[in-house]
Amino acid sequence: MGEHIIEVSSLVKRFGDFIAVDNVSFSVEKGSLFGLLGANGAGKTTLIRMLCGLMAADAGSVSLAGIDVLKNPEEVKMRIGYMSQRFSLYRDLTADENLEFFGGLYGARDTEGAAGRSRILDSVGLAGMENTLAGDLPGGISQRLALACAMSHNPAVLFLDEPTAGVDPVSRRRFWDLIHERAEEGTTVLVTTHYLDEAEYCNDIVLMHSGRIVADGGPDEMKRRIISGPVFEISGSGASFLESVLEDESWVIEFSLFGDSVHIQTEEGMGLIDVKSRLLTLAGNNQDFEIEHITPSLEDVFLRIIDQSESEGEAVI
Ligand SMILES: Nc1ncnc2c1ncn2[C@@H]1O[C@H](COP(=O)(O)OP(=O)(O)OP(=O)(O)O)[C@@H](O)[C@H]1O
Ligand SMILES: [Mg+2]
Repeated sequence: MGEHIIEVSSLVKRFGDFIAVDNVSFSVEKGSLFGLLGANGAGKTTLIRMLCGLMAADAGSVSLAGIDVLKNPEEVKMRIGYMSQRFSLYRDLTADENLEFFGGLYGARDTEGAAGRSRILDSVGLAGMENTLAGDLPGGISQRLALACAMSHNPAVLFLDEPTAGVDPVSRRRFWDLIHERAEEGTTVLVTTHYLDEAEYCNDIVLMHSGRIVADGGPDEMKRRIISGPVFEISGSGASFLESVLEDESWVIEFSLFGDSVHIQTEEGMGLIDVKSRLLTLAGNNQDFEIEHITPSLEDVFLRIIDQSESEGEAVI
């Protein structure tokens, strides 16, 4: 067990009668890549803003690098970098000027001279774009510039709130390569994303739902813990018919729609041939489907957790 750089304990945030963050506790290991996941409105941004000392909490505590963030919000600011959800670069300043401005705000030595800034821009793949206006940079590249601006002072913890939203897959990949590099150099990175393939890159994850943490753990460990039986994917034109008749089958533990296909989790020990023959019997005239045994994705895990949490009205883990 490594050292914890962030400790969050019983944190609460209310907006009037509405509880946006509801008694949240978790800790983040130093140097880890930590994923904060949850649907729109789950409370991720509100939580991050409290961890960064930008928003007061109604109850609970946050400690970051030994600092009590809620009592001493100013003290924490030099130790963190924050890339907000709709990050704000100055569109009418060049890439170099943005970095100089944000670096100056954070008191970053490395951005004082042009050579230092050029080296940083180079490290995030912006070589040759120093003098391009931020407003003229394509989405994926401006996101990398925003990352450079948030980390130019080498913060101990980087908070990235949906840094890859709306970015093409190649740019997302490049962005994650950069995040990985930072984590390998010892920076702790706390990131929110709606892309579950990205969550697979994290060492630890917490899943939020309606302001509460409903699951936490490492991606693989969570899959093993939550999904006990095998998972099969059914595709083809017969899949939607099968989905409509699976509900009454006691051997089907869980089923959910994934695009045009259906994922089913069955009782432990069931094999492909057995499942296929049961489905063929159920399908009647709708025999046009394919089935394969798959490794469960985090999406399978989260759908399962949220389903259970909604039906039980409380956290499942
Ligand atoms: N300043 C505010 N006043 C009132 N309600 C707020 C305020 N900020 C957030 N909320 C509400 O708190 C809830 C959590 O919002 P938050 O922005 O933290 O969610 P999120 O998980 O970041 O969502 P998204 O994935 O859409 O960014 C939402 O229902 C939101 O409407
Ligand atoms: Mg948000």
